[in-house]
Amino acid sequence: MKDVYIMGIETSCDETSISIVKNGNEEIATTVLTQMDTHALYGGVVPEIASRMHTENITMVLEDVLSKTDITMERIDAIAVSYAPGLLGSLLVGVEFAKVLSLVYQKPLIATHHIAGHIYANNLVKKLEFPLLAVVVSGGHTELVLMKGDYQFKVLGTTVDDAIGECFDKVARVLGLPYPGGPNVEKLALMGKPTYQLPKPMDNDELNFSFSGLKSAVINLNHNESQKGNEVRKEDLACSFQHVSFDQIIRKTKMAIERYDIKRVIVAGGVSASKFLRAEMEKLCEDMKVDLTIPPMKYCTDNATMIAAAAYPQYLNHDFAGLDLQARSSSYFF
Ligand code: KG4
Ligand code: ZN
Repeated sequence: MKDVYIMGIETSCDETSISIVKNGNEEIATTVLTQMDTHALYGGVVPEIASRMHTENITMVLEDVLSKTDITMERIDAIAVSYAPGLLGSLLVGVEFAKVLSLVYQKPLIATHHIAGHIYANNLVKKLEFPLLAVVVSGGHTELVLMKGDYQFKVLGTTVDDAIGECFDKVARVLGLPYPGGPNVEKLALMGKPTYQLPKPMDNDELNFSFSGLKSAVINLNHNESQKGNEVRKEDLACSFQHVSFDQIIRKTKMAIERYDIKRVIVAGGVSASKFLRAEMEKLCEDMKVDLTIPPMKYCTDNATMIAAAAYPQYLNHDFAGLDLQARSSSYFF
């Protein structure tokens, strides 16, 4: 079969990224332009600024990625774009840009889900073999997903309230840490010990998750100690919070492995950048003799390589979108 080159476009939050991937698993060239330093000035992503910056930068990102390879626009087989979920204004820039490329160069358009992207980032490390358990941990998702084949998703457990990344970002604010929250909580936690008693969420045999009670517990503890004039040992609180939140992920993953006789686990989403979670997952999967894949850091944070990788099974399936494709801020994928 002839090689398939897919161009992926990702603009769902504060990264403008374009990538070319061969046959769904070989990265040819990628450019990621992050707006992180700009949003850090405001303590979080400002949607208006994010979409304006995507608009200003996306053409330059395209030129940059093309300058890294001999593959020309004419050789590209399809244009894939992250169309949901994310910030609507940001997604729109990518979607409209992808439509223009599709029309001008007469290439099929593929609407790829951002979370499918995070899952298929693993295919860039090792070809996905089914059945597998995907542990999805991101800013908006916390799910245990059983996959029996490409794009066959069965949710075994999900969060009943907040997503884990969202919880890390809220706790970071309470601790007075700058944006982006998750990595800064992890940095602070490295200097502390898990000395604070925090409630263990979902301490039952369900595969669902909960993070809002834990978030409130951190907020209340911080508030009560300050009211009493006691010093809050922020590094210990960050460390305690990190332990309890990842303990929940590990406990539920273990339960799912046992219940569904899982032999392969993959981890997906921005929170998989956590070195603490990576180490705990490695320990668990080693103990349970389960094959584990976690994408390298560059594929954990938002990037277009994962979008082009996730679009490959869609391409093979002729799952193409029309020029009436709409960006969607929220979408139930699974
Ligand atoms: O997957 P992602 O880019 O967002 C969505 O697609 O929803 O993940 C971003 C999330 C943010 O909430 C961020 O704080 C979190 O991932 N994150 C981390 C770490 N690095 C990123 N959370 C905990 N520890 C980290 N090291
Ligand atoms: Zn993401």
